Amino acid sequence: MDRALLLLLLSLWALTGAVSPQAAGLCPDRLLGQESRRTCPRPCKADRDCGSKRQCLCDGQCGLSCVAPGRTCPWPLPPREDSEARLLSPTHSFSALLEVRCKPGFALPNGLDATIRRCQGDRQWSGDEPICTETRSPDEPASTPSCPLPEHIVDTFSIQGDATAGASIRYTCLSGADIVGSRENFCQDNQTWQYPHPMCKEVYCQPPREVDQGYVVAVQKTEYEVGFDIHYLCKKNFLLDGPQKVTCLSNGSWSASPPHCRARCLIPAQRSRVVIGGVKRWPFDVTDTLVAHGENVTFFCKHSKKQCSFSATQSCFDGRLQTPACYLEPTWLQFKLFPHRLVSEIDACGPDDVE
Ligand SMILES: *[C@@H]1O[C@H](CO)[C@@H](O)[C@H](O)[C@H]1NC(C)=O
Ligand SMILES: *[C@@H]1O[C@H](CO)[C@@H](O)[C@H](O)[C@H]1NC(C)=O
Repeated sequence: MDRALLLLLLSLWALTGAVSPQAAGLCPDRLLGQESRRTCPRPCKADRDCGSKRQCLCDGQCGLSCVAPGRTCPWPLPPREDSEARLLSPTHSFSALLEVRCKPGFALPNGLDATIRRCQGDRQWSGDEPICTETRSPDEPASTPSCPLPEHIVDTFSIQGDATAGASIRYTCLSGADIVGSRENFCQDNQTWQYPHPMCKEVYCQPPREVDQGYVVAVQKTEYEVGFDIHYLCKKNFLLDGPQKVTCLSNGSWSASPPHCRARCLIPAQRSRVVIGGVKRWPFDVTDTLVAHGENVTFFCKHSKKQCSFSATQSCFDGRLQTPACYLEPTWLQFKLFPHRLVSEIDACGPDDVE
């Protein structure tokens, strides 16, 4: 209601509330049964109906009643959290007006933010105790309507964007897998999604590469689930070079390349000793004359001018072990007739004996 109009009506009401019986035409008849107040004072038509201490005055819904005009209504009122009361009249006696205004963000059940109460003949303010309840202004809605994002969707996808009505989101599979369905979705005004949620492509690893001279220790499958482990073994006499185990990762790759099974090497010397693992020995004393992949074998070479030897080391790599370029295999005669003069048996050259 327009505030000016409200005040005009109120002032009229205030006037009629205190009019003398002469102006009684403006006072409503007592509305029996309809008054919200419990009791009405004795009805009257003129002051003489009311005895010496009372006057015949208009008392709101009670109509003309015998009231004592000096009687007051409760004032000040106890402070309230939701509203503020203020007197519109100079006193708080009969027919005085009281404005009760809701605090900002609060409103009365009828939607207005203020009401006027009148001091009645029964010393009570008219009407019920006003109750202001919290409201929200229409330009800041309670919560923007949004579309639901179920837990399994939030657990499966990384979601960019806004799930509120009119906005859109983009999905990315947390696993890194491809999306099956629409990558983008729109939250409609009725708080439902325009499209069904997509899915993440099930991820599998392809069967791993076969390993030469090795075994894959796993059930043969056409594809392996994420987290699946595959173990590798090498055939006898082959050394595993690489991971013993690979795992199917969430992006469909194996955690590592398959290992290699490396062959042992035949010692390429027969008639002179070599150093293997820190021990100087004849090749024919070594089991099968073989060394493991990665093993170092030190050979002895003769100084080109002096009767002394120096050493040169070679490594076995997957079945390949070559003698150093300086190494000369002794002849059968040298080996049989002059074993103490074999290159591996003579003194080592000194630090000065560089060639
Ligand atoms: C899969 O993930 C691993 C580890 O995060 C990474 O090293 C590899 O490159 C990825 N493979 C592919 C095909 O994206
Ligand atoms: C062989 O020699 C290389 C280079 O000196 C060394 O890194 C490696 O550990 C050695 N291998 C063995 C089995 O001792």
